[in-house]
Parts: sequence; structure tokens; C-alpha cells
Amino acid sequence: MTLGRVVIVGAGGLGREVLDILEAINERAPTYEVLGFLDDKGGDRELLARRGMTVLGRVDQLGLLDAEYIIAIGAAAPRRRIDAFAIEHGRHAASAIHPAATLGSHTVIGPGAIVAAGARLTTNIKLGRHVQIHTNATVGHDANLQDYVTVLPGANVGGSVTLEQDVTIGSGAVLIQGVTVGRLTTVGAGAVVVRDLPEGVTAVGVPARALGAQS
Ligand SMILES: CC(C)(COP(=O)(O)OP(=O)(O)OC[C@H]1O[C@@H](n2cnc3c(N)ncnc32)[C@H](O)[C@@H]1OP(=O)(O)O)[C@@H](O)C(=O)NCCC(=O)NCCS
Repeated sequence: MTLGRVVIVGAGGLGREVLDILEAINERAPTYEVLGFLDDKGGDRELLARRGMTVLGRVDQLGLLDAEYIIAIGAAAPRRRIDAFAIEHGRHAASAIHPAATLGSHTVIGPGAIVAAGARLTTNIKLGRHVQIHTNATVGHDANLQDYVTVLPGANVGGSVTLEQDVTIGSGAVLIQGVTVGRLTTVGAGAVVVRDLPEGVTAVGVPARALGAQS
């Protein structure tokens, strides 16, 4: 059986978490051959060596390697940039869906998704390109998470929520059903979002309000 050759872009903590996910997938059924990591800053070489892994080079090596890629970087902007570079060079993204995550019916997962252990996605959910759903986060029915969205550990995204492109939802945040969060907005850890949020703000607290906005 031919294994899918994969490189992980980003050799930090999230990169090692993604390696764990790929190893968990391979334990169920041999699926991926992980060639190594790419990182402009060198990454956690010592910790990777313990896993029998190396940093193969800088991110632009992606253009030369015959492999699919997973971008293990939490920030949306570099994820978007690296994805554009990879597409320009004819590369295809792989996904890392932990076997201990649950995906409900009619859920559509875009290329490059990372879904960590304990994440729960119910029914009729859409994830765009390179969306990340971290450990123990939940996403309710009919939610639409657009490209480069990040949902950090333990956050709860309610049913029919829309997260526009490049949105980040902090750890433990709660978004009630039906709200829309505008593109590039960050919701702080532990916030409770009860109304739509505009583009490009950072919102914190209960109920969540944009930093700098009048309360
Ligand atoms: C919201 C957030 C993005 C703000 O970061 P920032 O722009 O660097 O803002 P600062 O740390 O300068 O804080 C600005 C103000 O907001 C407050 N604040 C920051 N985060 C907050 C939060 N989650 N809830 C409530 N208030 C918060 C700060 O206390 C500060 O208030 P002050 O001006 O009265 O002192 C960040 O604190 C956050 O919550 N990120 C999510 C991270 C996360 O979930 N990580 C999990 C990784 S596994």
C-alpha cells in the first residue's frame, strides 16, 4: 500500500501535536509517511529529534518537495500566505483529523484541516481551507467556519454560527447559536459571544465586547 507523503509546516508545539495526530491515524491504518518539518526559524529540533524527526529546511522548500502539506501554525495570516505559496507551486494540502474526534453527518471538511482529539462536530457543518479545531472544542449543527479559522481548545461554537475568514476563537469561549463573527476578528479566551461581532476587532468578556469599544 502506498502511503501519502506529508510534510508538516511549522516545527513548534502545534507541529508536534499534528505529528501525534498523524501517528494516531497511522495506528488505525497506515496512511501517511511523514517526511519531516519545514520551518524558517528552525523549530524545536531537540524535541523533534526525540521523535525521530528533523527540520528539512525553510518553508519555501515546499515548492520542491513531492509531498502534501499540513500547516501547523496557529496564526491565520501566515497560514493563508503559506497556503497561497503552496497552491502556486501545485501542491495539495492533507488533513489531520484525530481518530478520537467525532464528525457528524453531512460535515464538509476543506483541505488542510486540523481536528484534534476530543473535538466534536455535529451535523451539516462546513469547514473551509486550513481550519483548525483544537482539543475538546465543539462545533454545533449548521455552523459555517470559513477559510483559516482557528477554534482554540475547549471553545464551544453554537449551532448556525458563521465564523468568517481568519477568525480566531480563544480557549473556552462560548458563541451562542446563530451569531456571525466578522473576518479577522479574535474572540478572547473565556468570552461569551451573544451578538454578532464586526470585522477586525478583538472581543473579550461576558458578554463579549470589542476592546476599546464603549461598554
Ligand atoms: C484577547 C487576546 C487576544 C488579547 O490579547 P492582546 O491584544 O495582546 O491584549 P492584552 O493582553 O494587551 O490585553 C488587553 C486588555 O484586555 C484584557 N484581556 C485580555 N484577554 C482577555 C480575556 N481573554 N478576557 C478578558 N479580558 C482580557 C487584558 O486584561 C487587558 O485589559 P487592561 O487593558 O484593562 O489591562 C488574548 O488575551 C486572548 O485571550 N487570546 C486567546 C489565547 C488562547 O485562547 N490561547 C489558547 C492557546 S492553547
